[in-house]
Parts: sequence; structure tokens; C-alpha cells
Amino acid sequence: MPISFDSEKRIFKLDTKTSSYIFQAYKEDYLIHLYYGSYIPDNSVEFLAPHQHNASFSPSNPVLEEASGFTCDSWPMEYSCNGTGDMRVSALAIRNSFGNTSTDIRYISHRIFKGKPALEGLPALYSMSDDDASTLEVETLDKVTGAKVYLLYTVFENYGAMTRSVRVENSSDKPMDIQRVYSACVDFNSMDFNMMHLYGFHCKERTLVTRHLEHGIQSIASKRGSSSHTHNPFVALAKDNATEDYGEAYGFNLVYSGNFAADIEVDFNGSTRIIMGINPTDFSWRLEPGSSFTSPELVMVYSAQGIGEMSRVFHRLYNNHLIRGEWKNKKRPLLINSWEAAYFDFDDDKLVAFAKRAKELGIEMLVMDDGWFGTRNDDTNSLGDWYVNENKLKGGIKSLVDRVHALGLKFGIWYEPEMISPDSDLYRTHPDWCLQVPGRDKSIGRHQYVLDMSRQDVRDNIFEQMSTVLSNNHIDYVKWDFNRNISEAGSALLPADRQQEVFHRFVLGTYELMGRLVDAYPHILLENCSGGGGRFDPGMLYFSPQIWCSDNTDPIERLSIQYGTSMCYPVSTVGAHVSACGRTGYETKGNVAMAGTFGYELDPIKLNDEELETVKKQVADYHKYYDVIHSGDLYRLIAPMEDGHHCAWGYVAQDKSEALFTFVTMLYNCNSTFFARLKGLDPDKYYRDSWTGEVHSGALLMNAGLSFKNAPRKDGTSFTVYVEEVK
Ligand code: DGJ
Repeated sequence: MPISFDSEKRIFKLDTKTSSYIFQAYKEDYLIHLYYGSYIPDNSVEFLAPHQHNASFSPSNPVLEEASGFTCDSWPMEYSCNGTGDMRVSALAIRNSFGNTSTDIRYISHRIFKGKPALEGLPALYSMSDDDASTLEVETLDKVTGAKVYLLYTVFENYGAMTRSVRVENSSDKPMDIQRVYSACVDFNSMDFNMMHLYGFHCKERTLVTRHLEHGIQSIASKRGSSSHTHNPFVALAKDNATEDYGEAYGFNLVYSGNFAADIEVDFNGSTRIIMGINPTDFSWRLEPGSSFTSPELVMVYSAQGIGEMSRVFHRLYNNHLIRGEWKNKKRPLLINSWEAAYFDFDDDKLVAFAKRAKELGIEMLVMDDGWFGTRNDDTNSLGDWYVNENKLKGGIKSLVDRVHALGLKFGIWYEPEMISPDSDLYRTHPDWCLQVPGRDKSIGRHQYVLDMSRQDVRDNIFEQMSTVLSNNHIDYVKWDFNRNISEAGSALLPADRQQEVFHRFVLGTYELMGRLVDAYPHILLENCSGGGGRFDPGMLYFSPQIWCSDNTDPIERLSIQYGTSMCYPVSTVGAHVSACGRTGYETKGNVAMAGTFGYELDPIKLNDEELETVKKQVADYHKYYDVIHSGDLYRLIAPMEDGHHCAWGYVAQDKSEALFTFVTMLYNCNSTFFARLKGLDPDKYYRDSWTGEVHSGALLMNAGLSFKNAPRKDGTSFTVYVEEVK
């Protein structure tokens, strides 16, 4: 059993094939953390508790003798509480009916069971059978508030991964307010880590940042109402000596699309604590007697084989246990999107002309982006009026969809369901439906306000409007966009003492609407988007198997965006298109977009003969290499920031019989030869590679590598090398 409990020592042990996670119900029922790292078979590990730590000035429990050395402040705590002796960042703070926020949970009981329960109202990883996951639920109690706090752990034994979540129940007869409830807390007994995270902004999302931990608190967070372009809800703690291929790395990724925080504190003992969950800023949750609150889920991956293996575990886990529905393992249609081709300037004939040319090129779906509804010819109006603009689409959507389908292409459509333009019929009818604070100006972003998704009536209206289009037309794909951050987060329906719930209720409302859509139209391929990749997180991936990665389609700049994204998100989820803009030729545009879902975002009629031939070849390559890219494992060879000149990566089939590697020269260096060692192959197998045309051992290709003497000597060039086993 991957989860065990030693009833004598009261030690919990959660094992995967590669990792162990151990904690203990200690004296006075405190839960203390003992170990997280490579798999160890031993159960007798209680000596790992740190008896020698410096604890002067740290107050201790009055029942436990001071001589025992235990203080909540200096020992590794399993789930840290505010105001009762642990002075480090705390995961839980509940304000009790006396107005005090000191909180203290102690172990009561636990249960271990097979499988994985769903989280109410929240996206989460799922198990496909009782055998692929096991769950531990630990019941704790804060005696003073009467808060029952359940710590939930699910172990995915075959992945080196586990998930954490927390449920708080009010078992008292008085209301209480949750002021912070992080999804997990993990304490490490050293500070020899690099913190890796994904920073960015619009058109530069998820750029990898690495910094060494220092004493004090280092955080990343969003209070923008979405997970945001600025910081992705992903953090890795990699040991000082860890590299892409060697050493220990711990990855943390929150399954949540709203305000989040990851706080990492190195304390006076040189110990490290990470807590991650809903951002406590602008958050508070009123818990009435008998009611409960569930935190989002945190995914934790441990790798002893470097950062690369950490990423591969995330990829496998998400492909198998996060992505759902009909499109889970299905090849996605190769699409062309109208946005960069026409922006708002299109009509039905123009779209049909795109579709005709696209069909000749082998493209399989036309997506009509922003601009088809209300009176929208630019971004100043009509969000919320989800009915067709017949001045643009003569004969309505049905006629256009039929014409596109008649050409043999699928058809997709764009929505921005959570938004409302001040210049819209919806706003003129329901000015109270957007988020707002009485007496304050409503900030405007891209000429739009944000709908109050916490309201059922708002969600019902948007769903009905979308249903009218989706039920009466054969729509194959929906792009769900979200183009501003949230400010003045007040709801007209909530009482004053619940206004701090709005940000979270907004996210829950969006999840509910998205879930309703996915349930009602399971055949539709949903692609999320937020001004590019401003809401690229596992919460969204639970509903949509792919997300538009960035509005930046320049292939060179895309390299670092896609490199960062690959830290935890699999290639199948990364929306990537070839566009007309950018500083390279079409070959490199295609090679870079191939590290994603692949598609086009350009006017196909404007392509010259040479470009048309390149596109046809790309379409053929897309099909030829689809399996190895999408079912294979990613190996990053050269990071774009490594030497500033080259970037390289590859996908290796699970059985190591074939691989496709891509090499990009970002900035040509006249004095050095492009050289790379391949990775992920079987050293004992022999392969023919398409670069030399010769047969070499996997050992040679990985240890000696390949030298690309004849590679194009120009900025922005690229090439692929296909490697196939020779028996
Ligand atoms: C932002 C998206 O990222 C673009 O792809 C496009 O859909 C525009 N919004 C449309 O307004």
C-alpha cells in the first residue's frame, strides 16, 4: 500500500515508486513533518525530528516540557498555524468569534482509502481506477474555534507525485472567518535550494527565473483575479547542485486560476518552508456553523533525476490525470485562426476564402476569432451581446458554418464570456452585473468591465446566450478569452461581511460556467486564452485541453516562453501557431510551433509560392511526427538563455525507438559550431539519424553528440533531426 500508518509511532508514510513523504502525530497531537525526498523503505524515522535546533525566544507548548526542545517555531510542522508559537509563514489563520486569529490544529483521526475524491466545485487531478491513486485524509481540530481541518493527500504511486488540499468545517455553533487557508505547507531542514519560477507579462509569459534562497520570505503571487501573465502558479525548489539532468527537484503547481501566493521562508535555523494556495490578500471566507470550505489542490512532484525529469512527470501526470473529455488523447484538428490574419476586418466571404486556401494546404479547421457579434468592429463594444453581427456574416452563423463545413473544414468560434462592454445591450440592461464598489469609479481595461461571475443569474444569462449559438450551429471548437485583470472586486449581491469572498467566488463561478459548457457540448474542443497566456494554469486545463500560450508569435521570442511553459505543462496543452509576423522564415516558425498544438494564424491568401510549399511540408511533418511529439517525452537540450545563441529540445518515444530533435540558431555565432549531445535515447540501441544519415549507438549520440557543421549560418534558422532505431 503506498500509504501506511504505524499506529505505535503514529507515523504516516506516503510512498511513490521514487519518493517518500513522512510525517508524525507527535506529543500533544501536533503534526510534525519528518521527510520528503527519494524513496526510503524505513518506517523508524522519528529520530529525524530536529531536537537540536535553536529555539531561544521561541515560545513552547505549556504541557510539553521546555527541555523536550519542541517548539512550533523551530520544528518542521506539517501544516503551520498562525499565532500560537510558529512565527514563520502560516498556512492557516481562522478568526474566531472573539475576533482573535490565533489558530492551532491537533491530530484527531485519519482514514486511508483507494482512489481520489473530487474536490467540490474545484478542478483537480483525478484517478481513473482505484489502483492508480491512494488517499489519506487526516482529521484535525482547533479546539477553541471548533474548526475541523482535514488535510487531504493523494499519492500517484507510478508518477513520483502527490496532491494536497485542505477542507475546513465549522463544527461549532458560531460563525468563523477563514483568513488564510493555503493548500499545503512543506518544511525542509536546509536552505540549499534554488527557487525556480515563471515570471512574465503580456507577450512574454512564463520566463524562467532562478534565484538562490536567502533568509527571509521570498514570494510570488497574483492579486489580479486570474493566475496571470505576471507569475504562473508554479514553483520549483531545486537543490543547489541540481541541473536539468541530475539532482533533486521539487515542483509545486497550484490547480487554481485566481489569486494565488507561494511564500517560501528561510528561517533562523536555515530551514525552508514553502506554503502555496489562495492569496490571503483580499481574501476572507465566512464559515457558518455546519458549512465547509475546500482549498484548491496543490500538485507536488519530486524528481531525483533533475529538473527535466520533474517536468516529464508533470507532463505524464497532466496528460493522464488532469486533461479530460473526448479530446483527452485525441489528435487535435490542425487549425487556422482569423485573428492575426484579419483582426476585426472580416466578413463571411473573406473567412470562406481563408477556408478554401486552408483546405488546399491540408489545414483542418477554421477558427473565427473576435469580432463576429453585436456591433463589434474594434475592441470598444459589444462584449456580452453574443448574437451574430449580420452586417458582417450575411445569412448568420449557420450559413457561414455550413459553407466552411462544405469545404471539409471544421469550424471554431471565439467568446469572452466573463466580460462586458459598457457599450453593449447587456450593460445597458444590467449595469449592476459587473464587479463594482459602490461610490467608486469602475476601472476600465481594454474598454471593458468584468462580469460578476459569482452571480448565478449572470452565469445563466451568458450560458443561455452561448447555448443559442452552440446548439443551433455545428460548432466544433470554442476559444474562451479573458482580456483584463480584475479591480474593484465587489459584488452587488453579497453582504458587507462577505465581500472579501468575491475573488474566489468569481473563480468558482467561472469554473461552474465552464463545466456546464463542457458537459453540455462534450464534442467541442475548448481552448482557453487570456490575452495570450494570462491564465495558463492546471485549473483551466481541467476544462480545456489546450491554452493559447502567448500573443507573441515571434518564433525566437516564443522559445523562452515555450521553454518556461514546458517546466510543468505538456506539449499537448501549449497553443502555438505559425504567423506572418516575426523575424525568421517559415521553416523556423513551423519548427517552433511544432513544440505545441500547431496551427496557423495568418492570411493564407497572402503566402507566396515558396511559403505555400513550406506550409504544405509542415502540414505533412505535423502528421508524420505527431505521435513522437505528443506521446513522447520532452528532453530539453539547450536552454534559450544558456548561451544566447542556440536552443534545442527533443521528443523521445516511450519505447526509445525514435526521436525528433529541433535545433534553432537564435543568433548566429561566426566563431563556434553548433553542437549538441542528444538525450533520452537508449545507450544500447543503434539509431540512424537524419543529419549524418549514418548509424550510431545511443551511447555515442548522447555522450559524444552531433556536430552541425553544415547548419545554416544565419540568425533565426533551424532544422530538425529525426532519429530512428535500426535493429
Ligand atoms: C487576445 C487573444 O490572445 C488573441 O488571440 C485574440 O483572440 C484577441 N484577444 C481577440 O480580441
